[in-house]
Amino acid sequence: MRKKVTVVGAGNVGATVAHRLVDRQLADVVVIDILEGVPQGKGLDLLEAGPVEGYDVRIKGTNDYADTANSNLVVMTAGFPRKPGMSRDDLLKANYEVVKGTIEKIVQYSPDCILIVVTNPLDAMAQTAFRVSGFSRNRVIGMAGVLDTARYRTFIAEALDVSVQNVQGFVLGGHGDTMVPVPRYTAVAGIPVSELLPKEKLDAIIQRTRNGGAEIVNYLKTGSAYYAPSAAVVEMVDAIFNDRKKILPCTVYLDGEYGIKGLFVGVPVKLGARGIEQILEIKLTPEERAALQKSADAVKELAQVIGV
Ligand code: NAI
Ligand code: 2OP
Repeated sequence: MRKKVTVVGAGNVGATVAHRLVDRQLADVVVIDILEGVPQGKGLDLLEAGPVEGYDVRIKGTNDYADTANSNLVVMTAGFPRKPGMSRDDLLKANYEVVKGTIEKIVQYSPDCILIVVTNPLDAMAQTAFRVSGFSRNRVIGMAGVLDTARYRTFIAEALDVSVQNVQGFVLGGHGDTMVPVPRYTAVAGIPVSELLPKEKLDAIIQRTRNGGAEIVNYLKTGSAYYAPSAAVVEMVDAIFNDRKKILPCTVYLDGEYGIKGLFVGVPVKLGARGIEQILEIKLTPEERAALQKSADAVKELAQVIGV
């Protein structure tokens, strides 16, 4: 039987996630939103693309949580996006209410699902979903690291004029200005990046990565990024549904790993059929550890504001 994914939020990220999922025939998809007509219209439009694209998965837009019942996986994108001049943290309280309310309904209809949270501020919203759902930590995963790492890899590939596929690396920490790209673990076709790029250039790339979300917001003016974010979500869904055991940077509940306890922070994990199957604890230098701790402290501040 085909898998079922519910995407909560039929906006830019949600609709693009749905599009990518059906294009790749990864699952039947339900898209749910509070707006009446929008999920229905986008769902029908995507369904009608099936005969041309050659997919025959089912897709439905709805306002009724009964339609989401028995989803294997739920992607949470509902909420408000960032506008120019607005930080991710400004979104905190408004999106807390949205995530809390929608997760309560999702859990009622799909008690066994895996949750991928996208709504910002990401780390605090993943923590909200974890607390509200009561799920075990392997089933609540925040999407940020795959996106931030994709940006980091893009900028390195561009600077060296090489294929993005040659660039391996990851970004740790929270999805905010304190995120921690780690050059020491970044390689281009196996060659440490520090041997290929001067420090100043690498520092500029790290800064651009940290500013990656805002760079897109400043261009779009009326919303934030969605092509790369939706691609990142679908890579995670693919890893889970195909039990790939893929190591990806994801935002997960740390229970002492990296010296951080009781908080969602981005670290490398193994994603497979059970969701998070392993948290990889890599060795960090004192400076890298301090940067990760600083990022975790920023997440903690937000989590405390909303009491999660
Ligand atoms: P959008 O505004 O295009 O879509 C959000 C949708 O959520 C709207 O259709 C809205 O009607 C819906 N919504 C609001 N309240 C709802 C509720 N109670 N129940 C159901 N639906 C509800 O926004 P976009 O661009 O799709 O972004 C969605 C979220 O994802 C934002 O918080 C944004 O900041 C975040 N984001 C996070 C990224 C990450 O790396 N974690 C990357 C990109 C976006
Ligand atoms: C991004 O990084 C807005 O968090 C979103 O594009």
